[in-house]
Amino acid sequence: MNTEDRRSGRSRRAFFKSTAALAAATGAGLVAGPAGQALAADPAVGGHADGSAIEPFWGVHQGGIATPPQRHVYFAAFDLSTSQRSDVAAILEAWTAAASRMSRGETAEPREAGLRTATSPTTEDSRPGYAAPPAPGAGGDTGEVMGMTPHRLTVTFGFGPSLFVKDGKDRYGLAARRPEALADLPPFPGDQLVETHSGGDLCVQACADDPQVAFHAVRQLARIASGSAQIRWAQTGFLPDVPPGQAARNLMGFKDGIMNPAPHQMDPFVWIGAGGPDWLRGGSYLVARRIRIALEHWDSMRVAFQEQVVGRHKLSGAPLGQNRESAPLDLDAKDQDGNPIIPENAHVRLSAAAANGGAVILRRGYSYNNGVDLTAERWPPWREGLEYDAGLLFLAFQQDPRTGFIRIFDKVSRFDMMNQFVTHVGSALFACPGGATPGEFIGQRLLEG
Ligand code: HEM
Repeated sequence: MNTEDRRSGRSRRAFFKSTAALAAATGAGLVAGPAGQALAADPAVGGHADGSAIEPFWGVHQGGIATPPQRHVYFAAFDLSTSQRSDVAAILEAWTAAASRMSRGETAEPREAGLRTATSPTTEDSRPGYAAPPAPGAGGDTGEVMGMTPHRLTVTFGFGPSLFVKDGKDRYGLAARRPEALADLPPFPGDQLVETHSGGDLCVQACADDPQVAFHAVRQLARIASGSAQIRWAQTGFLPDVPPGQAARNLMGFKDGIMNPAPHQMDPFVWIGAGGPDWLRGGSYLVARRIRIALEHWDSMRVAFQEQVVGRHKLSGAPLGQNRESAPLDLDAKDQDGNPIIPENAHVRLSAAAANGGAVILRRGYSYNNGVDLTAERWPPWREGLEYDAGLLFLAFQQDPRTGFIRIFDKVSRFDMMNQFVTHVGSALFACPGGATPGEFIGQRLLEG
């Protein structure tokens, strides 16, 4: 265990220990995992009440993937405006340094090095393309988390297809290194994708147990990159504060993230290994979808029908016909009339590994709520009374999107009963490189290779 692991008071080992215990208990291939937070049944796992827990930044994998989910996310996709690959490398180098510092509770940049409580004035930064210096008094930082603990901050970086080729142009001499798996996602039935909520050359996923800590991280990185990269779209997300051992409920009121890869499935299904390009080893592909839920429509449905749509009981989270959340899905179970207990077009049946040639993805999504816009036209126009711009920021990691998200969603998008309540309005795919050790930066093997 490295120093940061020790300081965090929790570790991936503890995380895997707890999920392994669950796997043994359920006997199932998938287990209650990160998004379900059932792993918090291990008292060593989870945030410290005072937010002082630190998630390790350096390592074989980037944080924010296998990390037990924090309560908040600030997700941002960036467009690059520079024409130089060296600028892109400089951004990633500066971002890596800043992210590692912030995850330890330090200011984003060292200038007047010190903890966030540093109050020394800053000096003008003359580096070309870099933003104005942060406010005096914050010490290499804009200062809104001064005096705060790290709240398990993780920052995860990813590269979109357009980093390699954009509008047919190979801006950075990387086109030949674009992995085949990093193709644009195909269009799916029902997609209502908004261009300004989709895509991006780079992404930053900042997760923390405090929303201001997560936003602060992205804000610093945007400031550091300004002049060479700008935020294209961003989305905040949250999870409820549930007791240890319980899965978090999504905005539909159902426990979400119950079935996720077991520890022994991380290598075959989540981490990119020897089969991928060298710069992606230890990394993962991230599919991000902004999925708007017609909450008013959903709320007008009887609970019994909602349960048929999902395929699980609302209160307990157990598969239909069972009484334990951790009970394995029995897709063959029939009622006394010979009908399947879990309907043919229930969400869990259509998305289960057993229905998709063994496809497994690590779901690590967050609910989102962008408020209500009564001045805008009702959206979508064919539904009345849809007022909340709220839903799920679906974030899923996998070894290969073609045998992960694309395979599963090909079926789900066509047949899922849930589709009458949800609309995909944003979409992006990113290749998240492996982690780094001190002295390296995330993505170095690609950008300097
Ligand atoms: C707003 C959209 C969505 C909502 C509200 C939602 C909700 C849920 C819920 C409540 C469960 C059951 C509990 C669990 O095992 O976590 C579930 C399972 C699952 N969902 Fe979704 N989901 C959504 C979209 C998607 C999408 C787009 C995909 C991928 C294409 C997906 C993939 C899965 C998978 C793989 C499972 C586990 C199935 C199993 O093995 O039992 N979901 N989802």
